[in-house]
Amino acid sequence: MSESHNPRDNSSSLVDIAIADHRTVQKLLVDLREADEVGALRRCLSDLKAFAERHFAIEEAPEGLYEAIALAAPHFQRRIEAVRAQHGELLAEIEAFLDALAGDALPEGARERADALVRAISAHESEENNLHAEALYTEIGVGD
Ligand SMILES: [Fe+2]
Repeated sequence: MSESHNPRDNSSSLVDIAIADHRTVQKLLVDLREADEVGALRRCLSDLKAFAERHFAIEEAPEGLYEAIALAAPHFQRRIEAVRAQHGELLAEIEAFLDALAGDALPEGARERADALVRAISAHESEENNLHAEALYTEIGVGD
């Protein structure tokens, strides 16, 4: 089936899943941006929580996106640690927001809070895409 056993094969597939996830999350963020009543917001946040738990674990896993970036571009370590730290912050905010939506009515400021979360997740995923692209650029030696 395969010509050779390349140890990078697994790494590539986990990285590919993580990068493909960055397109999937856009759909979840569109839904979150449009949710304007408490039930819809709760459903969006529950979907986002399930997605984020799985997606963040894939990125942090051995041979995942962060390891691939660190191997190709060790000088990005500080930026990798910064996005890794955001995983806990984003999940904590999703969970706290869900707790705040336990009632029947949309709490004051909930729409703004949802928009802020959309911006935070977009910025986070965008930084990861940049790190990945810049690490590949470094690895193939363009610009040396
Ligand atoms: Fe990500």
